This record gives sequence, C-alpha cells and structure tokens, in this order.
Amino acid sequence: MTQPKYKRILLKLSGEALMGEEKYGIDTGTLAQIASEVKEVHDLGVEVALVIGGGNIFRGVSGAAKGMDRSSADYMGMLATVINSLAMQDALEKLGLETRVQSAIEMREIAEPYIRRKAIRHLEKGRVVIFAAGTGNPYFTTDTAAALRAMEIRADVMLKATKVEGVFTSDPVKDPNAKLYRSLSYMDVLQKELKVMDATAVSLGMDNGLPLVVFDLTTRGNILRVVRGENVGTLVGCVPTVTV
Ligand code: GTP
Repeated sequence: MTQPKYKRILLKLSGEALMGEEKYGIDTGTLAQIASEVKEVHDLGVEVALVIGGGNIFRGVSGAAKGMDRSSADYMGMLATVINSLAMQDALEKLGLETRVQSAIEMREIAEPYIRRKAIRHLEKGRVVIFAAGTGNPYFTTDTAAALRAMEIRADVMLKATKVEGVFTSDPVKDPNAKLYRSLSYMDVLQKELKVMDATAVSLGMDNGLPLVVFDLTTRGNILRVVRGENVGTLVGCVPTVTV
C-alpha cells in the first residue's frame, strides 16, 4: 500500500459540508460519510485533527450584517462549531475511533479545554482530536483557527475541504476559461486576491510555512487521495504557481 505523504494532518471542514442536501443543520448521512473517509485516512496510521466551521447553524458575519453586535454574533458562531464537533465526535466513535473534543471556550461538562500539549499527546495515542469554538475570539474565522491549530500541533499540512476542485484563476461557475491551479505560492494568493481563505489565515500560513491543500470533499475518497500525495486539488505553500 502507498505510504501516506503526511504523518499528521489538520482537516478543516466547513459547517456547510455537514448539511448535505439540507438547507440547515446536520445531515446524519453526510456526517457518517465524512467520518468514514476520516477513518480511512486514520487507518493508514495518519494522525488526524479536525476543525469544523459553524455556518450550517449560525454565521457570525451574517448575524453582524443583520445588525447584531459582531462579537456576540461571532460567539454564537463559535458555539455552532461546538455542536458540529460533538456531532462529528459521535459519528467517528460509531466507527470505533477514539476521539477527543477540545474547546477554545471552556465548557468542561461537554468538552476538554484546549490544551496544546494534551492535544498532541492524544494524537500520538491515535485519537482524532476535534478543535471546537474557533480560537475562542470574535473576529477570527474558523480558517484562521484551523491554521493556528495546525501550526500549534505541528501538522505536516492543513487540508481545506471545499465544494470545488481547488483554487481557480477565476470563478469556474461564471468563467468557462477558469484554470485550476495545481500549485500556488502564498504570495500569489495575496497578490492575486484569490479567495482561498481570509487574509489573516493566509498570512499566518505564509509566515510560518504551513502547506495547505484545497480540495473537493464532494468527490468520495479525496481526503485519502490528498493524504497519499496524489494530484488532487491545489497545493498552496512555498511552491511555484502552476496551472493545470
Ligand atoms: P491520557 O490519560 O493521556 O491517555 O488521556 P485521556 O484523555 O484518556 O485521559 P483523561 O483522564 O484526561 O480523560 C479521560 C476522559 O475524560 C476522556 O474521555 C476525556 O475526553 C475526558 N475529559 C478529560 N478532561 C475533561 C474535561 O475537562 N471535560 C470533559 N467534559 N471531559 C474531559
């Protein structure tokens, strides 16, 4: 069997990824499907950490746009990520995986508090660690939380799951000539203003040399393909910019 390219990964899922065909909340079938793909990767001996967004339940930015105080709205969004994390924990444990949820906002009755060294120890023991409640701070996205946690646990790579193949030269839905980037330097992400992640997450990744793979989660088996180092999605990092 092919050896995995990465030993420790941080997988970032959007909250919307859990919705499936629903318009809101969590579709249990979709959740189980993603959990089984995480298990396939874990079965290769890869250490897996997860960060899940909360947009399927509540988006801080949308709340603020409707007149809510931005901080309050963001805290609600952080709580939404906790709900998603507990759902994913349940789905993974149904498949026999050991898991730990660590929350950036202390709520000890339902999750461990985030403790970096403990998280690393859990990963070394083969547990899937799910980081909940973002960074614990308003004004930071879950992409930024994912980049931060990936660096803290010294992940080899951050995998950002999306609904499209990777990063394109322009919006592939609107532009039939849009080309997929096979690889992309962080500097180009910033200079070309490509919507890969928000600027805070991108600059954090760039300053600390964190490789990022943006890939399509809706194609079954893609997490495994990325981890095996197959040509899937777009690799962002200290690499030359190349289109397909
Ligand atoms: P090791 O001792 O390193 O193997 O890790 P462990 O997580 O198994 O040990 P620990 O005794 O810390 O935890 C035992 C169980 O209690 C695990 O399921 C943890 O997730 C859970 N746990 C630990 N601390 C907390 C906490 O602060 N809040 C909640 N809700 N659960 C916790």
